[in-house]
Amino acid sequence: MLQKKWWHRSVVYQIYPRSFYDSNGDGIGDLRGIIQKLDYIANLGVDVIWLCPIFRSPNDDNGYDISDYKSIMPEFGSMEDLEELIRKANDRNIKILLDLVPNHTSDEHAWFVEARKSRDNEYRDYYIWRDPVDGHEPNDLKSTFSGSAWEYDQATGQYYLHLFSKKQPDLNWENPRVRNEMYDIMNFWLDKGIAGFRIDVIEMIGKKPDEKITTNGPRLHEYIREMNQRTFGKKELLTVGECWDADPEIAKIYTNPDGSELSMIFQFEHFILDQVQGKEKWDLRPLNLLELKKVLSKWQTALKDSGWIGLCLNNHDLPRIVSRWGNDGVYREVCAKMFATLLYGMWGTPFIYQGEELGMTNVKFPSIDYYKDVETINLYHDRLAKGYSEEEIMNSIYAKGRDNARTPMQWSDDINGGFTTGRPWIGVNPNYTTINAMSQINDSNSIYNYYKKIIAIRKQKDVLIYGEYQLILEDDENIFAYLRKLDNDMILVICNFADKPVEYQLPEELDSLKKELLIGNYPDIFEACLQPYEARMYQIF
Ligand code: GLC
Ligand code: CA
Repeated sequence: MLQKKWWHRSVVYQIYPRSFYDSNGDGIGDLRGIIQKLDYIANLGVDVIWLCPIFRSPNDDNGYDISDYKSIMPEFGSMEDLEELIRKANDRNIKILLDLVPNHTSDEHAWFVEARKSRDNEYRDYYIWRDPVDGHEPNDLKSTFSGSAWEYDQATGQYYLHLFSKKQPDLNWENPRVRNEMYDIMNFWLDKGIAGFRIDVIEMIGKKPDEKITTNGPRLHEYIREMNQRTFGKKELLTVGECWDADPEIAKIYTNPDGSELSMIFQFEHFILDQVQGKEKWDLRPLNLLELKKVLSKWQTALKDSGWIGLCLNNHDLPRIVSRWGNDGVYREVCAKMFATLLYGMWGTPFIYQGEELGMTNVKFPSIDYYKDVETINLYHDRLAKGYSEEEIMNSIYAKGRDNARTPMQWSDDINGGFTTGRPWIGVNPNYTTINAMSQINDSNSIYNYYKKIIAIRKQKDVLIYGEYQLILEDDENIFAYLRKLDNDMILVICNFADKPVEYQLPEELDSLKKELLIGNYPDIFEACLQPYEARMYQIF
């Protein structure tokens, strides 16, 4: 049986610090910037802030390549700034989650600097080294960021494994010393009063590179249980694992209600629906709503009482949802509200990614030179070499590139969207003149205030937290509709994914019941017809 936990009721706000708010004009967002914006976040009614990595890093992958796990990235601020942030957030009943990156370090981390000095260095075995095979890579494992996952180290004549960039060598979790180091790091941060961790690519720590197993390796859950016992277990902390390759059965192991592993995982199965099957995310295919309904509904029901998930439509690795599966032109506002309605009616803990609450969109920079993301830049060169046309590559980047989510937060219509008084580290989306926080905070019809309202509704209704999920109008190609039921309480969520009006007919047993509209994204409502991207949430009596 599922025990009630505080995070079941929570809403989490994700911050990408580099792009959130720059307090000192160097063009880079920082911790003091976040402190200054705490009221903006608190006003939404969120309970937790997840900070993407804030540790010392050469920033090959913007902080996901850590060179010192126990110090703050100087451009983000100091340890005192973080302590102040934790304190001031707690004053507003907001907890802080840090991002833990246990799968790899930076190649500039002291362990790797040592490890590469010689084959018998005492840190050698912290990483994964293999001899060349016939003068080549040990096998054809690929890096997520293009090219081989093996990099030859001239000085010692072996290859090391990097499932991400060359500057992110993979740690060897089979080595108990590595595991101890990581637990020590986790406890160091837990002692500062944080509420838990988002755990980066946790599914990879049990890898078996010789067998080309990268995710869900044989000892994965053994490691997670050990981590749990040695660090956050029994402390009622929120831990969320990033799991691209989990199915519901695996998710039940990760999030077993006995508390032996994690509180929840993110599942991303729906995000591969708009890529050509078996190909890469860059190989685009339009979304089929029937498939989306199927995948999301599967996850809504499969774990009931036996696990928990985090819900998200955006994060720092994903394109902006309004641009991706909605409309970022004339219907942008209704569309952003529609996605919020869809997600906040669901079972699981919702995560908002900075700017989502303003309906921020994708960006189209004029050329590759404006892009900063290592994945995007590698992809560009890789595909160019493979003979793809420039246009084709840029179209993939416009649709899926990670910098879509990383342009600075749009605070106002001032220069640089009010993000910085200096030169921003990455270009601001030129639509900041119309899409910005300043214009939305005091407008009761804004996307920001819609999020605020729907978060408040969610908090008042147990049925939205624990109610059973049931998909309805299953075969409708335009409408995504579902019920949540708990005892005698029932909620109906109905969303139109089309840019045209769509008629609908509710199942008979619902039609006769009394409905009260809790929230919706159009001022005037027509019975039996949804306007473009219309969404409604009803209480049913
Ligand atoms: C995760 C992060 C992503 C990062 C990668 C390597 O997928 O979300 O931003 O590049 O791991 O750490
Ligand atoms: Ca700064």
